[in-house]
Amino acid sequence: MRILFVGDIVGRPGRDVTRRAVPLLVRRRGIDLVVANVENAAGGFGITRETGDAILAAGVHVMTSGNHIWDKKEALDYVVAEPRLLRPLNYPAAAPGRGTWTASVGGVGVAVVNAMGRVHMPLVDDPFAAVAAEVERVRTMASVVIVDFHAEATSEKIALGWHLDGRATAVVGTHTHVQTADEHVLPGGTAYITDVGMTGPHDSVIGVEKAAALARFLTGLPSRFETAAGDPRFHAALVEADNATGRALAIERLSLAPVDLERIAGEP
Ligand SMILES: [Fe+2]
Repeated sequence: MRILFVGDIVGRPGRDVTRRAVPLLVRRRGIDLVVANVENAAGGFGITRETGDAILAAGVHVMTSGNHIWDKKEALDYVVAEPRLLRPLNYPAAAPGRGTWTASVGGVGVAVVNAMGRVHMPLVDDPFAAVAAEVERVRTMASVVIVDFHAEATSEKIALGWHLDGRATAVVGTHTHVQTADEHVLPGGTAYITDVGMTGPHDSVIGVEKAAALARFLTGLPSRFETAAGDPRFHAALVEADNATGRALAIERLSLAPVDLERIAGEP
């Protein structure tokens, strides 16, 4: 089975390049399941029903999130009504929504688990204990288990990768919006990357219009953040898994500009 994990979709530029890239890559690379982090998909902050439904219509099967999931008020209802939208598993149990999606994909049990780190992040429950217990639970019905770990610190992400090595098919990092070049399959068979990177406008400060982001650093004053528009890139990780064992066979990092998508579309 081949799983495409799309890094944090930011605003309209991210949604537009996703709509172009996902169907193309599914066709060209034989992808069975598409997962995307969408916590910044609506105007750069949060998710709405309209933007989420459009992302699903583009061919994404499961949407993960993180600390920005609550930025748009309607997400409180959407996360309850839409089982394909996850919020981090380790939010307090009283938070709406769920952190896990399970399904049969071509006869193979698959689970997607979303969790959030605690280093330089809003306070949540221990992700190490929560994810390990959840992975153990879903392994009774799913051989392929994909974990989106939405976290700031590279150390915390790498540690969770090792913690789940041999138990999850893949541990992929999100949240920092900069793709890391450390993709590899750990010895126990877990595909790992510290951050998949941002799918959105790269002529920016991690998706935000440059002048406003700079003003905050230069003056220390609050400034209104707008999503940037230039240089859209599609950042993703492609994981190949053994259906029977759930072990990862390979992980490939994708960083595609519109010109790359044109080239792929034009390949014989
Ligand atoms: Fe985030």
